[in-house]
Amino acid sequence: MKGMRLSLPLLFLALVGLGNAESDVSQFARDYAPYLRFDSKEGEGNLCFPHNAQEFFEARKSGDWSRKCNRDYDSVAGGSIPTYWHAMTCGYHLHIAYWNFYGYNEDCDCCSGERDAWWEFIVVKIRDWTLSPHMHEVMFGQKNGWYTRIPGHYETFNTTHPVAYIGKSNHGTYHDDGGTGTCCYYEDFRNPGSPNKHMVTWDNLIELKQEDGEGWMADSNIDWWHGLKSPIFRDDWDLCGLVGCTGSSLQVCGTCGCHKSDIGDDPF
Ligand SMILES: *[C@@H]1O[C@H](CO)[C@@H](O)[C@H](O)[C@H]1NC(C)=O
Repeated sequence: MKGMRLSLPLLFLALVGLGNAESDVSQFARDYAPYLRFDSKEGEGNLCFPHNAQEFFEARKSGDWSRKCNRDYDSVAGGSIPTYWHAMTCGYHLHIAYWNFYGYNEDCDCCSGERDAWWEFIVVKIRDWTLSPHMHEVMFGQKNGWYTRIPGHYETFNTTHPVAYIGKSNHGTYHDDGGTGTCCYYEDFRNPGSPNKHMVTWDNLIELKQEDGEGWMADSNIDWWHGLKSPIFRDDWDLCGLVGCTGSSLQVCGTCGCHKSDIGDDPF
């Protein structure tokens, strides 16, 4: 009986939490959505801003296989390009993944790295999200790998929004600016400079849903994305199973996300 009495208030709190949860999740997605910062050269030549995935999908389905590069900064600054998200409750915590789509990646050096269609992600962990929510780890994805930073080791915009710097050619997300302009893991240029081109992703968020979502979300055909799986069909769709990094913990040219991960490859 003693154990019973202790657990009832907890059960009550849990039920209240569940009741509010559904409506809260979209609000959390807005509150913690990333603030993207682009290289000063983004939008020039073949250096592309994020792209509307549904538009790209429809073009490919109708037989248009031409290169699609969004050079229009106004579309990004004006909120007409979506960022796609989904969230999962993992224990006491809420994990929210944000995805951006790019129509084309330019070569990251003189002559390699280019491809059509590319997806990049950021994952935010909100600890104790029903009782005392606070943003903690943020995962930055880039070049088929990723790493995780803890508070104080990434920048924020207006307190709750993690800042991500976007590699100008291959569009990886990084916690810092810089780069030396090669194809090595951390070296894609990302220097916003005075143009200060940025994207307020919470101005246009679309939830990833296999049912009742946009047409492209339900289609598992990788041909539309030039051989890539779209977010819903990837292994990392289960946000509760993520690990903190991939690749070497030494800074090498190839995948070495663990070099800048604050939690190594521990569970995210
Ligand atoms: C950032 O915060 C300021 C002050 O609250 C607010 O006026 C501004 O609209 C916010 N910026 C964005 C992009 O939400």
